[in-house]
Amino acid sequence: MIDLGRLRLAFPEREILHYDAVDSTQNVAATHEMGAIVLADCQHAGQGRHGHLWHSEPGAGIYCSMVLMPSPVLTLALGVAVVEAIAQATGIQCDIRWPNDVMLDERKVAGILVQLIAGRAIAGIGINVNHAEFPEEIGHLATSLRLHAGREFAREDILFPLIHAIDSVVPEDAETVLRLFAHASSWVAGRRVTVDLPEGPITGTTAGLNKAGHLLVRQDNGTETVIVAGGVRAAGA
Ligand code: BTN
Repeated sequence: MIDLGRLRLAFPEREILHYDAVDSTQNVAATHEMGAIVLADCQHAGQGRHGHLWHSEPGAGIYCSMVLMPSPVLTLALGVAVVEAIAQATGIQCDIRWPNDVMLDERKVAGILVQLIAGRAIAGIGINVNHAEFPEEIGHLATSLRLHAGREFAREDILFPLIHAIDSVVPEDAETVLRLFAHASSWVAGRRVTVDLPEGPITGTTAGLNKAGHLLVRQDNGTETVIVAGGVRAAGA
């Protein structure tokens, strides 16, 4: 169980709600005020990006949505905050596959979903903390902090630094967020990737971020392509 009292004491200015089970914390957060944080022990219809479901095993993960001010680099800032919080709470250093897949051992350990609803950003964060296994169809793509470390972690030990990190990284100016992101992600520069674009896949080497936080990929023929949405994977994977 998450100790809600401790959490509310640490962040008195925030409305913090906790549910045993919801369909999705995103839906609940969308009905609350700016700054609200919605947590759940279990989601029956956790939402991932691109219409995927987010596997939300009861009691095993962090399922959290926050109501924030929209910003062009919010997704990148949240990725940085998740990596910082996990490192601080567990000593485990994760990577970020642009734009917002938090990776550990080349598998996804946390995901971020930002939805713009009525002029506000509903920022959802899912962290696989104590999962011992995953459904077969995602077993080769997902991992948890427990599977990596061989021991369990208290979810609230990660939640405290997570909220602190969000409060400190999200308000930074875009240039600072991009610098922090480039530092936290091995995918920003010098990485061989394949990107699935609507017109077909391209393969090249990542060459930094532009001012908007979009990823630059340089193909071997010298063409530089600006990647605006996701679809980036290791070349050959
Ligand atoms: C992704 O596909 O990478 C994004 C996953 C986001 C999952 C989190 S869990 C808390 C919040 N509620 C949801 O339904 N989704 C997000």
